[in-house]
Amino acid sequence: MESFPASLVLAGAGKMGGAMLRAWLDRGLPPGAISVMDPEPSEAIAKLATDSSFTLNPPTTTAPQVLVLAIKPQALDEAASLAALAGPKTLVISILAGKTIANIRARLPDAGAIVRAMPNLPAAVGRGVAGLAAEPGASTAQRAMAESLMAATGAVVFVDDERLIDAVTAISGSGPAYVFYLAECLAEAGAALGLPAEVAARLARATVEGAGELLFQSRGQTPAQLRESVTSRGGTTAAALEVLTGEDGLAPLIARAARAALRRAEALSG
Ligand SMILES: NC(=O)c1ccc[n+]([C@@H]2O[C@H](COP(=O)([O-])OP(=O)(O)OC[C@H]3O[C@@H](n4cnc5c(N)ncnc54)[C@H](OP(=O)(O)O)[C@@H]3O)[C@@H](O)[C@H]2O)c1
Repeated sequence: MESFPASLVLAGAGKMGGAMLRAWLDRGLPPGAISVMDPEPSEAIAKLATDSSFTLNPPTTTAPQVLVLAIKPQALDEAASLAALAGPKTLVISILAGKTIANIRARLPDAGAIVRAMPNLPAAVGRGVAGLAAEPGASTAQRAMAESLMAATGAVVFVDDERLIDAVTAISGSGPAYVFYLAECLAEAGAALGLPAEVAARLARATVEGAGELLFQSRGQTPAQLRESVTSRGGTTAAALEVLTGEDGLAPLIARAARAALRRAEALSG
């Protein structure tokens, strides 16, 4: 990580909070700088606390340099004790889906600055992507700190307008599920072509895994270039792509799905 905070409190060490915690420790954030608050920590987190000696559920804590909110969104309203943890010098990074910067500011009025982030599930394997929006008053150093902490679990993209976080949610936040569904559809199509269901499922899964890995490793090439490189004129891939890129093909379907996700994200953000 580019810069380490002198002190960091992580509120909520569930799936996403736990993944970020592990990534920070792996990248050398000193355990002594970390306090984790979670009323019912998992066994894995309790063991990690013992092994790497960060503080788990300290009885009292002063306002840290960075407070990361990774609790369930609905827990924010009940977590009155969090307000005392956000002092005038505290950068608050919230990953709470559907909670706007104004929602967080109302709960943590003394916070120095607030950055809202929308990560996605592959963060658990260090290959996530997070969209970030900063409160207008956030300093360059605070934005850089938020970027550095979120980058521990993958790529980071800033958006200028917080409202675009709903669009980020519709594309990358929910996106992994779309790709998993693609693997399911591919498996079903294989079975319909006569392959044993198990074989079709293995082929579909390995294809999505391999294509994702190839895309990852081919940093200089766009997805379109990779697609074109495996599509010979008049060949089998071209025959399938003619259907997928047709008027009622995949593009309008994905656009519709993303719009539905956007509408839902907007409704949840209130
Ligand atoms: N998972 C994702 O892919 C994803 C993607 C984007 C954003 N997010 C956001 O990330 C946040 C966490 O999601 P998650 O999937 O990691 O959920 P999770 O696994 O349920 O983790 C939430 C953790 O916070 C703990 N907690 C609840 N109230 C607390 C409090 N007052 N103080 C400290 N800890 C508290 C919970 O404990 P209990 O279990 O005992 O309640 C749980 O361990 C959510 O706000 C979600 O919107 C998640």
